[in-house]
Amino acid sequence: MNKKAKELLDKLNIEHSLSIEEYEYLLDYLDEELMEAAAEYARAYQKQYYGNKVFTRGLIEFTNFCRNNCYYCGIRRENHNCERYRLSADEIVKCATAGYDLGFRTVVLQGGEDMTYSDDDICNIIARIKEVHPDMVITLSIGERSTESYERYFKAGARRYLLRHETANPALYSKLHPIELSWQNRMRCLHDLKNIGYQVGAGFMVESPGQTTYDLAMDLKFVEEFKPDMCGIGPFISHKDTPFAKQPSGTLNTTLFCLSLIRMIYPQVLLPATTALGTIDSRGREKGILAGANVVMPNLSPVTVRKMYSLYDNKICTGEEAAECRGCLEQRMQSIGYEIVTDPGNRAGF
Ligand code: SAM
Ligand code: FES
Repeated sequence: MNKKAKELLDKLNIEHSLSIEEYEYLLDYLDEELMEAAAEYARAYQKQYYGNKVFTRGLIEFTNFCRNNCYYCGIRRENHNCERYRLSADEIVKCATAGYDLGFRTVVLQGGEDMTYSDDDICNIIARIKEVHPDMVITLSIGERSTESYERYFKAGARRYLLRHETANPALYSKLHPIELSWQNRMRCLHDLKNIGYQVGAGFMVESPGQTTYDLAMDLKFVEEFKPDMCGIGPFISHKDTPFAKQPSGTLNTTLFCLSLIRMIYPQVLLPATTALGTIDSRGREKGILAGANVVMPNLSPVTVRKMYSLYDNKICTGEEAAECRGCLEQRMQSIGYEIVTDPGNRAGF
């Protein structure tokens, strides 16, 4: 293990802050020993704040229509090979109820930016779920909307919002997205959400095309400064029908190392072991938890539409019923000495 890298890791453990250049140094000198040292620090914080408990959120992918054309994403507007679907309000409420019956006390309603669902529609769906399950915490993940829209969803009862910043470097952002999408608007959204009072999830893709270790270091600095309640990170995985079809996918080790560093930067953060991590390695989610993650997000979408929400190639969990996914994750967590809990799972200290 590089001596200076270990010293920087020790410094991070005490100060929870490094310069971008120092984060870059850690990433440049990543090896097995440094990874394990970071994971050990990370697990100590995970244990301090969350014990051996892993939070779950039921994910309902309710539409794969999207007005955007992000170069990396399998449901981008111009992917004409993508078979499109959208769930009705009744179907969404039904999925939420199925989740409730399985013990989930929080659901994430995620989709492409599908403007067919008006603000009224989104508010009605939130209100209907809250009416039947007042103790269900509702998370939205429906992309960039206006400040007023975010305010309306909050008033209707949504309390969490996931919107990855994707990259903290505006120059890289413009290589991953077409011109009409701006890093500045992404940031505006994230700040709006925080100001309104949502628990906010930011996050980024690891080793997306063109990303340098300096870019990744900028992401770590962003997490340190913005302090999102949740931080969703996973490897970039190529999708055959996108402009990035031939780009190499992100690696397990860099993703696990980033998870450990994020836990050290912000010990209380909610950190999911993502489906993308489980896709590049058959025990990726277990490894993610052992690197410091503390959330898993099993899929509650109807099996009939699962395959169509294809963000990247070979996505896992597209054939299993909600109950199977829940059971599978429960066993996976037990196998590494962790226990899935069903309460809404707020960030420690929220
Ligand atoms: N439309 C919403 C938004 O923009 O936040 C939510 C849906 S979007 C598909 C969810 C996340 O999937 C994105 O934030 C992105 O980080 C991730 N994603 C998309 N394509 C991916 C890929 N090829 N590999 C890994 N992650 C990907
Ligand atoms: Fe879906 Fe394992 S979590 S099958």
